[in-house]
Amino acid sequence: HDTDTSDLIRRTIRSVPDWPQPGVTFRDITPVLQDPHTFRRLIDVFVYRYMRQRLDLVACVDARGFIIGSALAYELNLGFVPVRKRGKLPFDTVSEEFVLEYGSATVEMHTDSVRPGQRVLLVDDLIATGGTMTAAIKLLQRLGANVLEAAAIIDLPELGGSKLIRDTGTPLFTICQFL
Ligand code: PRP
Ligand code: ADE
Repeated sequence: HDTDTSDLIRRTIRSVPDWPQPGVTFRDITPVLQDPHTFRRLIDVFVYRYMRQRLDLVACVDARGFIIGSALAYELNLGFVPVRKRGKLPFDTVSEEFVLEYGSATVEMHTDSVRPGQRVLLVDDLIATGGTMTAAIKLLQRLGANVLEAAAIIDLPELGGSKLIRDTGTPLFTICQFL
């Protein structure tokens, strides 16, 4: 993808200081989604990257990942499978707990959402500590998926998540960074 597009997306993201708590700068993608031209440019970055990859499924993380992942899956003519927060999926599930700054969280997938050997792209909006994405990769691998790549709009490299994900051996693609 070209630097013009990543610059456009980066400068359209709204940075909200001290939210949800003092010291955190929240990177808000809603202005990117709200503008039709920028939203299309965003989805198209991923479309052009993955259109020739012979993928089977796009897996996306609850909730912001769903927004970009469903648009991408539709555009690539692929199925969409959700990775959800605990207690939301009605059928048989596999779950993976991970550590947050304070406490822990759990993500779940339906046991029949991926067949062994399927080629899966994992999508979320942002990588911070990498806990969410790493747990999602583990779930997909437990179901036998071949996770070809993990993709996000934003990387916060100082929080170490992108390094953590790459250290697990899954390639990671992000459009822009905030230090
Ligand atoms: C945010 C974001 C990622 C995750 C990144 O989701 O959308 O999924 O945090 O953080 P990590 O790399 O430290 O795991 P959040 O849990 O706030 O949920 P939301 O999408 O429902 O807003
Ligand atoms: N999720 C974790 N950290 C975040 C941040 N700084 N901005 C937006 N979403 C986040």
